[in-house]
Amino acid sequence: MTDARITAVINFVREGSRVADVGADHGYLSIELAASGRALSVTATEKNLQPLQAARKNISAAGLDNLIDTRHGDGLQVLSAGEVDTICIAGMGGALITKILDESPEVVQSARQLILQPMNASEKVRAWLNENGWAVDDEDLAEVAGIIYEIISAVKSSEVTPKKFKRASSPLKKKFLSQRAQKLRRVLDEMSKSPEARTSEKFFATREALNVLRREIDGLT
Ligand SMILES: C[S@@+](CC[C@H](N)C(=O)[O-])C[C@H]1O[C@@H](n2cnc3c(N)ncnc32)[C@H](O)[C@@H]1O
Repeated sequence: MTDARITAVINFVREGSRVADVGADHGYLSIELAASGRALSVTATEKNLQPLQAARKNISAAGLDNLIDTRHGDGLQVLSAGEVDTICIAGMGGALITKILDESPEVVQSARQLILQPMNASEKVRAWLNENGWAVDDEDLAEVAGIIYEIISAVKSSEVTPKKFKRASSPLKKKFLSQRAQKLRRVLDEMSKSPEARTSEKFFATREALNVLRREIDGLT
């Protein structure tokens, strides 16, 4: 049931937190979190009925009904401000994560920690944090079946002490950045085939991004 990605998310949860697990699906994150004893309470929200029913069944089977409250609804809209202090949104695209955060400003503002695991567009999530008064205080990478996932923990900017990639081991970070560099290389190769694309602003921006990534990879031990 658990894997390195879920474990990495749970590792960021502080002892005694009241946690929202947004988009709980099968409920595995909520179950592992409640079972870990780290969270005081977990509220699992889910937009779709079928996964919600599966989560409820799994939660009952794990004997955790008293610790996990399940709610049917969109994002954080089924929560009131102050109900949770930690918001986990895992396994969704970056655009959906920022949309969910944007749609419930009062719930987000009343939290003290956001734990986000975007499946893509993590730069969008980071930009959102930056623009909305949050700062990354820690982050991690987790590999499951050859796919490397980013897990980001953020706190209010006034409370941050940055520890960049404190938890991620260097070999995994190198592999993660190298996969990103390969993707950019493929985009550049594709663009090079068209005279218009290879002189476009996007081409030069992508090439610069690749150079920055390569320098970062070279700087890793
Ligand atoms: C890929 S699953 C991720 C499950 C789990 N969070 C994890 O990381 O393993 C995404 C889940 O989010 C749910 N979902 C998508 N949009 C949502 C929203 N706006 N509010 C609540 N749940 C949502 C989907 O129905 C799906 O069950």
